[in-house]
Amino acid sequence: MTNQENTKEHNKVPKHVAIIMDGNGRWAKARGLPRLAGHRAGTENLRTIIRASAKFGIEVLTLYAFSTENWARPKSEVTGLMHILADVIDRELMELHEEGARLMHVGHLDGLPNNLQKKVRNAIELTKDNKRITIVIAFNYGGRDEIINAIKNMIRDEVKPDNVDEELVNNYMFTKSLPDPDLVIRTSGEQRTSNFLTWQTVYSEWYFPEVYWPDFNEEELRKALKNYADRERRFGGLKEES
Ligand code: FPP
Repeated sequence: MTNQENTKEHNKVPKHVAIIMDGNGRWAKARGLPRLAGHRAGTENLRTIIRASAKFGIEVLTLYAFSTENWARPKSEVTGLMHILADVIDRELMELHEEGARLMHVGHLDGLPNNLQKKVRNAIELTKDNKRITIVIAFNYGGRDEIINAIKNMIRDEVKPDNVDEELVNNYMFTKSLPDPDLVIRTSGEQRTSNFLTWQTVYSEWYFPEVYWPDFNEEELRKALKNYADRERRFGGLKEES
């Protein structure tokens, strides 16, 4: 039996998995390497996790690559992360496209260097009709920033207060066409939400493996999915007792 069948047996494969890829810096430090070497190792890992996600039947995979707070890191690290995103697109785009991955971005593209904005827009355009898996890159993303952005746009659109409901607010989010995450994974043992998908994760299940992101491999993802499948989700409700 394949892993996919194994987890599908419970009919509980999360449709949308979102990951806070934490611990690159500590992974590098533990090896006496510069922090950027940790980010590069974390990038190598992306390939493994994207493939494994498609294999396990996950439909949407969101990756938190750069937050609105990450601008406060040393300039060399910020520039390094921008270069890493550009390299990933250059290196992986054609293969991801051939394998049926649709790429999306959430956050503010403006604020990134022009050439990087262009690369991201091209990647989104090229892959927009692909159906196998949707990869959402959260880059220059913040949950509060997303909510502020939504409020500004509602005001610009002169939305009437009585028309404001969850569906309307959802439609003003960067994620408007996507289902909410079923499972959020934060690697490295840290247990914080760090401004990630604030509106969308109110009923997500959270999972905090101890391993640093570069060590989060297919086996670790399988464990996360098994842990998720064993949980009972009630969304604040309760089944009637028989
Ligand atoms: C958190 O580790 C990681 C980040 C802020 C960046 C994540 C980026 C990548 C994995 C590579 C780029 C990915 C894409 C899709 C372009 P940390 O630096 O906070 O680690 P630490 O807590 O150990 O210091």
